[in-house]
Amino acid sequence: MIFNMGNITKTYCIITYGCQMNLHESEKLAGMLQNLGYVKTDNEEQADIIVFNTCCIRENAEKKAEGNIGALKKLKRTNKNLIIAVGGCMTQQQGYADKLVKKFPFIDIVFGTHNLENFAELLTEKTESKKHIVAVSEKEGKIIEGTPKMRSSFPNGWVNISYGCNNFCTYCIVPFVRGRERSRLPEEIVKECKDLIDSGYKEITLLGQNVNSYGHDLGNVSFADLIRRVSEIDGDFRLRFMTNHPKDLTEDMVKAIAESPKTAKSIHLPVQAGSSRILQLMNRHYTRGDYLDKIALLRKYIPDIAITTDIMVGFPTETDEDFKDTISLVKEVRFAGAFTFIYSPRSGTPAAKMDGQIDEAVSKTRIMELIDLQNGINREQSKAYLGKEIEILCEGFDEKKGKYLGRDTYGRMAYFNGKNLIGRFVNVKITRTGGISLLGETVSVKE
Ligand code: SAH
Ligand code: SF4
Ligand code: F3S
Repeated sequence: MIFNMGNITKTYCIITYGCQMNLHESEKLAGMLQNLGYVKTDNEEQADIIVFNTCCIRENAEKKAEGNIGALKKLKRTNKNLIIAVGGCMTQQQGYADKLVKKFPFIDIVFGTHNLENFAELLTEKTESKKHIVAVSEKEGKIIEGTPKMRSSFPNGWVNISYGCNNFCTYCIVPFVRGRERSRLPEEIVKECKDLIDSGYKEITLLGQNVNSYGHDLGNVSFADLIRRVSEIDGDFRLRFMTNHPKDLTEDMVKAIAESPKTAKSIHLPVQAGSSRILQLMNRHYTRGDYLDKIALLRKYIPDIAITTDIMVGFPTETDEDFKDTISLVKEVRFAGAFTFIYSPRSGTPAAKMDGQIDEAVSKTRIMELIDLQNGINREQSKAYLGKEIEILCEGFDEKKGKYLGRDTYGRMAYFNGKNLIGRFVNVKITRTGGISLLGETVSVKE
């Protein structure tokens, strides 16, 4: 019998939870693994290494990850060579790594958010020594440039502009697991964007926990400057960015968006709550009135801008009156979309220790009312699209629906027919509107 021992390819599988930041970091993990000779598989049972890139923003994010890690115990028994690595925000929480290894002793590598860029070295160490590796540095390091990336979101390219967060909203774990805010140099950002556009990417999304405080630590550059510099890059592309903090939204930034035809006419501006009392307890540094002023500022320069948001219900001490303030704010602003969450106490955050934690049943009733309201607004906004021709950047093909899909400048999703459309700007005539997404016919495709 002849065994072909050469050319045995090792495969990896990455499971990602959480935000865009994490999705992009998984692109870096994939890049490092490819550099080490691994190839991607979506089948966990065939993988030589499974990496979990975790999130801990709410309890259910943690439970989901822990459940899926636990389910691998069997696989690890049948495949002794399987390497299981767990990284991301969940592992960076104080004292958590030890708890995790005790609970799941079959994990081979635990790495924190500050150790992600060293993942390749940790893996090499593991394959050479066989011992368990726990690498969770307490402090953030310097920004590391040049990490290889295996991108998976063509025609959109994610580009980090800053890491960490200084805001310490009282409910939020992010500042504890991502460290202080650090901005990348503008030259590095512009270079990465230019390389993406030169290689055919049609949309750039600048990423940061708080993009619009970009540059505070550098001193001589603002987020508005960065928008201008990226918009000046030659090529046909759309510029997006997320997430923004209302307190750091400046008139100069709004002008930069308004003056740049490449910047999408949409902004994600999390409000969290409509009651000034709750906003103060959340340490958000703005009142309801301040937030509405920012909305007015955006609409003064960009009247048709689509504004999306994040809203939380059931923050400690939230009364029916406070919640009514959230409802009335949603009615007043008419968001183009809202991510809604039930407050989830996070250990180590000030809000987790506050008196007046809200009963889950109350929070559930509140969130349902909120979702109903927002769905109604979305349906009405969708109706206004009927019969209109809009420019969509085609970003994928939905196998189930058998249709291409993409978004217009306002971020509204549409489905349509055609051929070879991914990465192209397509004019679509809207023929049907359901909930938030639209259905249309392809009219023309931009060369
Ligand atoms: N840096 C971004 C995103 C933070 S996480 C920002 O500030 O906008 C995304 C959203 O999750 C937040 O906007 C908030 O609405 C929600 N969130 C954060 N912590 C939460 C918690 N403990 N419970 C419930 N939702 C939370
Ligand atoms: Fe969390 Fe607030 Fe920072 Fe956003 S701005 S990551 S909600 S602390
Ligand atoms: Fe979750 Fe970390 Fe993002 S906690 S939301 S993955 S920054």
